[in-house]
Order: sequence, then structure tokens, then C-alpha cells
Amino acid sequence: MGMMSHIALGISAAVLVAYLMSMEKQVNYNILSEVRKKYDYIIVGGGSAGAVLASRLSEKDDVTVLLLEAGGEESETPLYHIPAAWFFLQKTEADWGYHTESQKFSHFGLKGNRSILNAMIYNRGSRYDYDNWASQGCTGWGYDDVLSYHARVTPFVDYYLKAAEELGFKIVDYNGEEFEGFAETQFTIRNGERSSTSKAFLKPAMNRPNLRVVPNSHVVKVIIDQKVAIGVEVIHGGRKYHIYTSKEVILSAGVIGSPQILMISGIGPKSHLDHLGIPVIADLPVGDNLQDHLMLPVLTRVNITGSVTEKGMLSWWTITQYYLFSTGYFSSPLVEVLAHVNTKKAMYAKAAPDIQFMLISGLPKVGDYVELRDDIMNEILSNLPEEGFAAYVCLLHPKSKGNIRLRSRDPFDSPIIDPNYLSDEEDIKTFIRGVRLLEKYMQTKTMQKIGVSLDLLNITVRDAHDFLSDAYVECYVRHMATTQSHPASTCKIGPPEDPSTVVDPQLRVKGIEGLRVVDASVMPVLTSGNINAPTIMIAERAVDIIL
Ligand SMILES: *[C@@H]1O[C@H](CO)[C@@H](O)[C@H](O)[C@H]1NC(C)=O
Ligand SMILES: *[C@@H]1O[C@H](CO)[C@@H](O)[C@H](O)[C@H]1NC(C)=O
Ligand SMILES: *[C@@H]1O[C@H](CO)[C@@H](O)[C@H](O)[C@H]1NC(C)=O
Repeated sequence: MGMMSHIALGISAAVLVAYLMSMEKQVNYNILSEVRKKYDYIIVGGGSAGAVLASRLSEKDDVTVLLLEAGGEESETPLYHIPAAWFFLQKTEADWGYHTESQKFSHFGLKGNRSILNAMIYNRGSRYDYDNWASQGCTGWGYDDVLSYHARVTPFVDYYLKAAEELGFKIVDYNGEEFEGFAETQFTIRNGERSSTSKAFLKPAMNRPNLRVVPNSHVVKVIIDQKVAIGVEVIHGGRKYHIYTSKEVILSAGVIGSPQILMISGIGPKSHLDHLGIPVIADLPVGDNLQDHLMLPVLTRVNITGSVTEKGMLSWWTITQYYLFSTGYFSSPLVEVLAHVNTKKAMYAKAAPDIQFMLISGLPKVGDYVELRDDIMNEILSNLPEEGFAAYVCLLHPKSKGNIRLRSRDPFDSPIIDPNYLSDEEDIKTFIRGVRLLEKYMQTKTMQKIGVSLDLLNITVRDAHDFLSDAYVECYVRHMATTQSHPASTCKIGPPEDPSTVVDPQLRVKGIEGLRVVDASVMPVLTSGNINAPTIMIAERAVDIIL
């Protein structure tokens, strides 16, 4: 339909302007041949966790820290800094271009029944990085600057909250005492720019003599001698280097990267490593227990104007507004309201929420970034109205679990990622309850007044079932639910005697000395929301444990 290419054109102009205006001072990064051969701490991965670790550990000036980052440095691409640009960052160098395996129970509406899965290695680049923007401020940096920033850019926020109140939900601050309810989204945006951990933590620390940050360094394995991690093997500029540690190697390479490095280093499920001919150093369930949030798009039509339209998004006014005043559509990720609800228990029954609603005040062209099947994509686009909003139904505590395995011994070969989405029937039931609640929400007086209609849900899957029956919703979910890109839990933390755990409560890899995992891989179960803030907290706690 060429819709994305139009958008791409508008964005290219914006990028050009952004580039000219972002001639900020470049930080001094190092190249690997210039760093020394031994550090107290070697941190692998410069995402949320790695940036926090590097910054905090290097606060002690008698400690030397090396941060190895596989990607380039952050300021290279101005697009990363524009909040609304998450629409356009998919399938770029910003993520690793990982795909899941073809799914047996889900993704039937997607090409090849599989989806792209960003692993949160680069927070700055992931498509669904609301986490970063919506990060929960509990990190002790610039909280006050950020918290006050509710990026309201359309009048829809009022309707969303009024309709929620009609149903009896509370309007809350989801980072405050009460979590359940509807809330205006809070963004970690400063002056209209995304504030990533790399900006917030790393840049201020960059000039410390005891901290070295080396981008474009792909760590391929941990060097282990007699069950002690003594260093890492890293490829940089086409050459192989060995760098050693006097204290620890810390893996913060993400939910896919950390288990991949561990398995290549000989730490993983014995039968799998045997199969690939990798000598087993520790037989641990690395890569198991993979969990991820799925989200279901529910696109609605409305009878009023004021939502973010394609035309509005691409107007020169929008671009000018952003660059002159840091306001307008580009300054906001456009997810204006988030709700966390428990669809099973009576309201406020002190149970963890099982569903999140994400209300986005415009109609995103979903298919272009989730690779919808052409027939479904065309059907949706041909009915897509100009004015409307999207209500995503997100499954917070999936029962379905998958795993990550090596495809080969080649560290540059992307691993086999099988989340096994929707393999547990319980997840379908939760989704159905979520959709039922959303239907009620759409029937409130407030929503009826703006003429909300769910007719856009009537797509090709209707052939087999009555529109909006349980069977219909199940079929819709199995076709249309896609990843929210919050994979977690592949190196589970827990008591060492529990055979399902990989790291102990001090985050040490069981049976190996001098090796920790510090990222979302260690979460035993997914948290009830976006995982960036919990990941930052894991890193903060790790620093306390390590020092
Ligand atoms: C995708 O799933 C559908 C439904 O189970 C199946 O008919 C189809 O063959 C699958 N396609 C691929 C490429 O696996
Ligand atoms: C939309 O608004 C028009 C004019 O106010 C009204 O006639 C029509 O019934 C509305 N449609 C819906 C679906 O609410
Ligand atoms: C769904 O769409 C089909 C095909 O356009 C149409 O025949 C049918 O009446 C619609 N059903 C509902 C409930 O809107």
C-alpha cells in the first residue's frame, strides 16, 4: 500500500534535520587494541543492565571496569532519540533481526507463522521500547524531571480515563502505591528526547579513567579454567582478542545473548551441548523457561476527530514543532494510557493483574512491522479509517514457556528461539477475558459518545466462527497476537538446589566461579508490565551484591 514508504519519506526529512541539529560532543570510545589486557570487571553488553553496572561499579576509583558492547555507539543515529520513532526502528540495525521459529499455536496471521523478536539488547533501538520511555522512575536519576512529563498529545486521554471510571476502575499512578487501574503513561523523556540508560548512566561516567567502553566488540565466549571464569574471547574489527579479569565476568547480553554465550562456553543443557560437540563444563538449564508478553491489536474506529493521523504525523508543522519546541507527536511514543487489570478476580481483590491495556491514540500500520500475511494486511488496510485508536490487550503472566538453543557452534549464527506462544490453553482463556472486558469498556457512555466501533476486528478469521464468539476471539488471538518484545527468564535465579535454576540468589552461575548474569534473563517469572525498569533494578541490586 506504500503507506510505510510515505512515512519513511517524512521521517527521512526529520532524520536529516535531527542529524544537523545533533552535532553534540562525541564521547571518547576506545578501540580494543588500546585497552589493557586485564580488568577487575568485564561487562558483556551495554544495554540497560550493562550501562548501570558499568557506571556504578566504576564509581569506586580503585576498581577497573571494561564494558564490551557488540553494537556501535549510541549517538550515531539521531532516530534513536525521537520518541515517536519506535514505529520506524524495526528491522534496522537497532535490533538483532532475530526471528522466532515458526509457531505451532500462534502467529497464524503472520508470514511463516513467526515473528521478529527483539531481545532488549539495545534499549535504544527496540521497536517496543516503551519500557525505556515509560520506565518507572525508581532508578534515582532525574526522577522529578521525568515524572512530571505526561506526554499528552491528543484529547483522547480524557475519554480513556472517563470510560474507565464509568466501569469502576481507579485512575492511578502506576509507579505509585496502586498499580491496578488506568493511568496516563509516564515517559522518561527529557526535553523531548528519549532518555536511555546509556545516556542517563553511562555518559556522565565516560571520562572516568578506570572505565573503558568499547563498542563493536562481539564477545563470543567466556574463557573458563578449572571452573573459574578468567576472561572473555572477543571479536573486534575482524580480529580475535583475549581479555582477562582479576575478579569477574558479568554477562548482560540479554535474554538471547547471555544464554547463547553461556552455551557456547560449555554451560548449558548437557544433551544439547553434547549434540553440538561442545565440551560440557556445567550442566544447567540455560535457555529454558523463556517467557514473553504477547499483545493483541484491537483497532477501533471513532466518530470524532483528533487522533494521530498519518497526515498529521507527517506534516511540516509536526516536524517543526518537535525541533523548535520539543513538543507535538514526535515528542511522545503515542501510548497515552496504560491500564493494568485483573480479569478474573473481583476488582481490587489484591491479585496481580493479568492483562495490560495499552491505548494508542492513532492507528498504527501494524502489518508493516509484524510481517502480517499479505491477505490479512490488505484486508485491514482497506478498511482502516483515518480517525481511531488502538487498544492493545497484553498478556502479563503467560503460562506458555519456550526455550533458546544454539543453531550451531558458530557464535555469529543466530540461535533457535522458540517461545512456544499460546501452547497453554490458560493463556487463551485470559486473552478472552481481556477482550470481554475491553468490549464492556467500549460500551460505556463515554466511548459510545465518540462513536467507537469494533468492526475492524471482523477480518478473515470470521470464516470459521460467529463474530466475537469465544471461538472467534481464540482464532483472532492465534492469528494476530504478537510479541511485545519482553522476552525474559532464560537464566532463572533461585535456590542452587532447585534444578530449574541457572544462577543463585547472588546471580552467580552455579558451579562456576567469577561469572554472573545480570539482565532480564535471571527473572524467574515475567513482571506485570514493561521489563526495562525491573532490569535496571536487577543491575542496581547486583552492584550492591558485588561490592
Ligand atoms: C502456519 O500455521 C497454519 C495453521 O496451523 C498452517 O496451516 C500452516 O501450514 C503454517 N505455515 C507454516 C509456514 O508453518
Ligand atoms: C457519528 O456521529 C454522527 C453525527 O454526530 C451521528 O449521526 C452518528 O450516529 C454517529 N455514529 C456512531 C456510530 O456513533
Ligand atoms: C463481517 O464482514 C463480513 C464481510 O465483509 C460481512 O459479511 C459480515 O456481515 C460482517 N459481520 C459483522 C458482524 O460485522
